[in-house]
Amino acid sequence: MSQETSRNIGPIVLLGPPGAGKGTQSKRIMEHYLIPQVSTGDILRYNVAQGTDLGLAAKAVMARGELVSDDLVCNMVLERLRQPDCKRGYILDGFPRTAAQAGWLDALLDSEFFDNTRPTRAWPIVIRLDVDYNKLLLRITGRRSCPACGRIYNVHFQLPRTDEICDFDGSKLVSRNDDRLEVIQPRLAAYQEQTRPVADYYERTGRLICVNGDQPMDEVTKQIYHIIEDRRA
Ligand code: AP5
Repeated sequence: MSQETSRNIGPIVLLGPPGAGKGTQSKRIMEHYLIPQVSTGDILRYNVAQGTDLGLAAKAVMARGELVSDDLVCNMVLERLRQPDCKRGYILDGFPRTAAQAGWLDALLDSEFFDNTRPTRAWPIVIRLDVDYNKLLLRITGRRSCPACGRIYNVHFQLPRTDEICDFDGSKLVSRNDDRLEVIQPRLAAYQEQTRPVADYYERTGRLICVNGDQPMDEVTKQIYHIIEDRRA
């Protein structure tokens, strides 16, 4: 068995505003360390597409660029973290996003009822990707993603080999419903008002590590791997 399938990585939290590169970097960490990406945005979008009760409750809120209620999101995360593939660790992409969610996560990881044989009870490695506001706008409006495999592209920064087609499975790339200009503003405002305090909370408790996300993708990845290696040594 290779090292990366036997080593315990524990929880990794990726914070950062919309467009900071959380999804892009999560996919790289997932492939490198063979732990799952738990993206609350992806799970919610899947539920919206499937028309589940959760999707019906979340659809209008997401379309307005606001945050889905803490109860719905925390229950959804709990269900996902109980899956066996999260045993060695996982990457939380887009969670926690409010002070209540951060408190809930700490309590969960501290709880004796959450399978205490798991290394995932360790404190999470919390990384925030920082990117300039104007760069965020360019990244979000230029984003395209593959509806089949979820790979992320960008018309300004990361073009597919063939225009609007996924390099890996040939699917036609799509834009996200909430990447429209009129929705981007409320999403960025929600980050400032509700998610920045989460970073402050982790900073106060000495757990926040900031990475400059305004660098080439490979450089950001390199720095994240370095942090993971350092913290889990
Ligand atoms: P979610 O899906 O989590 O969206 P988000 O946080 O707004 O983040 P994004 O997915 O827009 O950006 P990203 O940081 O992943 O950037 P990416 O890697 O794609 O949430 C969507 C909605 O769901 C929320 O608004 C809310 O309604 C709801 N929701 C989700 N979680 C919730 C929660 N916990 N509580 C309540 N509600 C919740 O990169 C962006 C672009 O930039 C790409 O095109 C990429 O190619 C490019 N790029 C990436 N890195 C670089 C780089 N280094 N250089 C140049 N380009 C780059």
